[in-house]
Amino acid sequence: MVPVATNHGGMKEIVHRRRDLRSARRPLEMRGASMQWPVLIAINLHVLSTVTWAGVTFSLARMSTAQIEQFILPEIGTAVVGALSGYWLWTLFHEGAFGRAELALATGAAAALLALLVQIVTGAPVLRRKAMAPDRLSNTIKTAALGQRAAAGLLIFTVLTMASARFL
Ligand code: HEM
Repeated sequence: MVPVATNHGGMKEIVHRRRDLRSARRPLEMRGASMQWPVLIAINLHVLSTVTWAGVTFSLARMSTAQIEQFILPEIGTAVVGALSGYWLWTLFHEGAFGRAELALATGAAAALLALLVQIVTGAPVLRRKAMAPDRLSNTIKTAALGQRAAAGLLIFTVLTMASARFL
């Protein structure tokens, strides 16, 4: 256990932080080395899908209109895998505990789900109109591009919370 510096001092803060760290590691300790496969699968699935989701979102936010409609479904697909694997990680590491790490993760996850909602609400009309009235596609594409920009901002916030959570 690394000693914890605290400016408002006292054992209370140290004990609280130790309990948080212990609770964040609890599943690994309880399950033992032979049971780390679920953790490895969940974290790799999560990082791969969310990196792809964020990468596509950041690219679409810069592209504005070019062929945005080809990326909407794959993007939503990676988002769903990212959210499900994130929930899986939560059950493996964080169920039962609610300290600062969990607060950060929950806030980041809420921002990610909001980003997904924005992408569905602004992206679905593009796909619908592409099928039914392709000549009137451009307005929906403009809205979808704005949606991608808003989602990109939300996902930046999510990445920061996810990367910081275990150190809080
Ligand atoms: C509904 C959406 C999401 C949920 C429920 C979720 C949940 C989680 C959980 C529980 C962890 C494990 C944290 C730990 O114990 O160390 C995690 C890790 C991580 N998440 Fe998410 N996440 C979501 C979305 C995202 C998104 C959108 C990104 C990136 C754009 C992301 C990037 C990461 C990364 C990089 C880690 C690894 C952090 C580390 O190992 O230090 N997550 N996530």
